[in-house]
Amino acid sequence: MDIPLDALFEAAAVARERAYAPYSKFLVGAAVLGESGRIHVGCNVENVAYPVGTCAEAGAIAAMIAAGDRTISAVAITGSGETPCLPCGACRQRIMEFAGSDTRVYCSGINTVYYSESDISALLPASFSIS
Ligand code: THU
Repeated sequence: MDIPLDALFEAAAVARERAYAPYSKFLVGAAVLGESGRIHVGCNVENVAYPVGTCAEAGAIAAMIAAGDRTISAVAITGSGETPCLPCGACRQRIMEFAGSDTRVYCSGINTVYYSESDISALLPASFSIS
């Protein structure tokens, strides 16, 4: 599938502006491209009980599943730091659960047109699985 990178990053940036991160003050937006071609977004939602907070990627994946898609073709992540925001370990596993054969992960920071891009299996070479 062709990846609509500009639309993916624009959707992630809109979600980032809606992030709820009063504790870390680090805003993150994520957009996933489902197999239908639709884009699903999420942002980080923190909680005063810190471990209850959720990452942007978790929100975007939950939205994708609720909308009926099951396979992620690409993910765009944008954080409010200067450097590209890379997904945490748990989110790499979350992405892997719904990854296709070549799921691309694109990362950016605020005010950067630069992004790093990688295959999810390069970010998580030894994922957990039940065999
Ligand atoms: N965060 C994300 O939402 N996604 C990432 O890829 C990295 C980190 C959030 C979690 C927490 O709300 C804040 O950023 C600081 O870690």
